[in-house]
Amino acid sequence: MSSSQQKIPTNWEEREALRVKGQFWTPDWVADAMISYPVTGGFTDIFDPAIGAGAFFLAAKRIAHQTGVQLRLSGTESDPDMLIEAKKWGLTDGDLSEVQIRDFVLDTPAISLSTAVANPPYIRHHRLSAEAKGQLKALCRKITGFTIDGRAGLHVYFLLTALSMLRDDGRLAFIMPADTVEGVFAKKLWDWITRHYCLDAVVSFAPEATPFPGVDTNALIFFIRKSQPKDTFYWTRCLVPHPRELKDWVWLGFKTGSSTTLDVQSRVLEEALATGLSRPTNNALNSSHTLFTYATIMRGVATGSNDFFFLTQQQVRDLDIPSIFLQSSLGRTRDVPGDTITHQTIADAEKAGRPTFLLSLDGRSLETFPLSIQSYLAKGVGLGLPLLALIKQRKPWYKMEKRRAPSFLFAYLGRRNARFIRNEAGIIPLTSFLCVYPRHNDVEYIEALWRVLSHPETVRNLARVGKSYGSGAIKVEPRALEMLPLPETVLQETGLDRHNQLELAF
Ligand SMILES: C[S@@+](CC[C@H](N)C(=O)[O-])C[C@H]1O[C@@H](n2cnc3c(N)ncnc32)[C@H](O)[C@@H]1O
Repeated sequence: MSSSQQKIPTNWEEREALRVKGQFWTPDWVADAMISYPVTGGFTDIFDPAIGAGAFFLAAKRIAHQTGVQLRLSGTESDPDMLIEAKKWGLTDGDLSEVQIRDFVLDTPAISLSTAVANPPYIRHHRLSAEAKGQLKALCRKITGFTIDGRAGLHVYFLLTALSMLRDDGRLAFIMPADTVEGVFAKKLWDWITRHYCLDAVVSFAPEATPFPGVDTNALIFFIRKSQPKDTFYWTRCLVPHPRELKDWVWLGFKTGSSTTLDVQSRVLEEALATGLSRPTNNALNSSHTLFTYATIMRGVATGSNDFFFLTQQQVRDLDIPSIFLQSSLGRTRDVPGDTITHQTIADAEKAGRPTFLLSLDGRSLETFPLSIQSYLAKGVGLGLPLLALIKQRKPWYKMEKRRAPSFLFAYLGRRNARFIRNEAGIIPLTSFLCVYPRHNDVEYIEALWRVLSHPETVRNLARVGKSYGSGAIKVEPRALEMLPLPETVLQETGLDRHNQLELAF
């Protein structure tokens, strides 16, 4: 059986089981390229700290067969069942004789490594116990001298541990989720790595070339050597799945140019660290023309319980809620099929039985509300709503956040591309959207800003500020969206740059 044939279950529970253990297998075309890195450096000992079903061992055997170089395989794995799985995938007892069943991070073998090749378990921080988190924190301090934000997942500690075990000139190839370079902890982590190790190359994947189809993860491969850091490195993007050139590119020391399947760039480390290692070169990085110059951003309303506060037309009628306590609202990006919200968009959502009314109460005392609202709120108390995490912080608990209707919305995550939306119906969005408030309210300004926001070049720039997921989805937080570079040519074309940028309209 080939390791590229892992079927990702569509069933939620089975997927969860895989996620808890971080068990996703590396496809052959990626494993072959990664194994080539230590082999081209003349190393013959291959160590995989998380062998799983043995994708890298199998790749090593293929490369050994092709090159005639004898490779010795060793590694660790926490799940003993994986050895049985690995044999099903074609490995022998002899291949697996140097695999230890142990926790690589919390019970690290006392050895040094000439190579480390891994697809470490992508186990996010909220799946780690408080005790494990404490141990990981201590481990990071021991290796680097500092701690990193607690939102780093287990894979980050795999990387740190393996780096700390490398011998001089040793080589490491890790495939990791993009949060490794995009998370809040990333700057500190990569400043440290690139000051102590030599980053040779980074590989990214276009959505259609993802090594893990069906998994919501944007993967990156890092090729790192324990030697003098350099100011430049190679960065490439795989444009199609299974490019033969990927292995050849590694084999030739990353030096070949771009082709129809690989977009290769030689990059300055400083620029790449500032831009983010998951993103292509950003020449507009120091542009003073960011969205913040022309608009401010806020997230949509967080109700704390959409089931209770976000109502359908039928519920509004049944509960007899007066319209002065309601605001027209949308909560799902799917309810906005196009790029403009009109009254028809709301009517269509209502027809589909979707909630479109936000129960927007102020902080007055309970008895001063009409009886229909009093009894609905009593029902909320019965359901325990005032004790819910977010609602608990509000005083009184039913007082809803206030927003002005924004001129534009931004749908910041979803299978469909992140996009700006025109809010012609004046709705108040919930948290699936961000609110974009132009700095001026005159029609001409708003029209020009819309032309800038909907321009393909502006939309392309979202990848420069957002966090990337598999299948091309991008998540952009409010502060990051304010940093969105607006292309100078587009600003000139639309005339937006001529407006007085500092005057606030509100
Ligand atoms: C993403 S899979 C990769 C497996 C394989 N190397 C591949 O690329 O296909 C990660 C593996 O790490 C194992 N694992 C999880 N936590 C571990 C730990 N603390 N120490 C060692 N292995 C661990 C999981 O059981 C899983 O088999």
